[in-house]
Amino acid sequence: MSLTPSLQLLAAGALALAFHSGHAQDAAAGKTAFAQCAACHSIDGSNGAGPSLQGIDGRKAGIFPGFRYSRAMKAAGYAWDEKTLDAYLADPQKAIPGNVMPFSGVSDAKQRADLVAYLKTLK
Ligand code: HEC
Repeated sequence: MSLTPSLQLLAAGALALAFHSGHAQDAAAGKTAFAQCAACHSIDGSNGAGPSLQGIDGRKAGIFPGFRYSRAMKAAGYAWDEKTLDAYLADPQKAIPGNVMPFSGVSDAKQRADLVAYLKTLK
């Protein structure tokens, strides 16, 4: 059987998707895990006890408009990506000493990876 190029592309895409869903990072599971963050963090741009996490992927730490960050968070000096989010969520005080997020962290590496995968979907 010979597939047309577009069908081949579709098949390749389906395969990639199949691999992806079996991958270590699972945004759907991360969305569920986000329940432990949602009391303080919105995803729609409104600040609460914590800054909104809308568009967090690639955003510089400590700059969301209207939120009063700690000095430590404002001085972090880096942007949020897979690596920095993972380190911060693993141990907030170790990653940014003196930041005031009242949250001890997520010890489970798989759950952190899922959370980060979900955070990256927030535009
Ligand atoms: C009890 C409230 C609370 C909970 C629960 C909480 N956070 Fe936070 N978070 C904060 C506060 C407050 C800050 C700001 C800290 C500062 O300014 O030092 C913050 C900051 C952050 C930042 C940096 C945001 C920025 O604009 O630079 C990220 C990312 C973040 N939290 C992610 C999470 C995730 C993911 C969870 C759940 C696993 C979570 N937080 C749970 C209150 C909370």
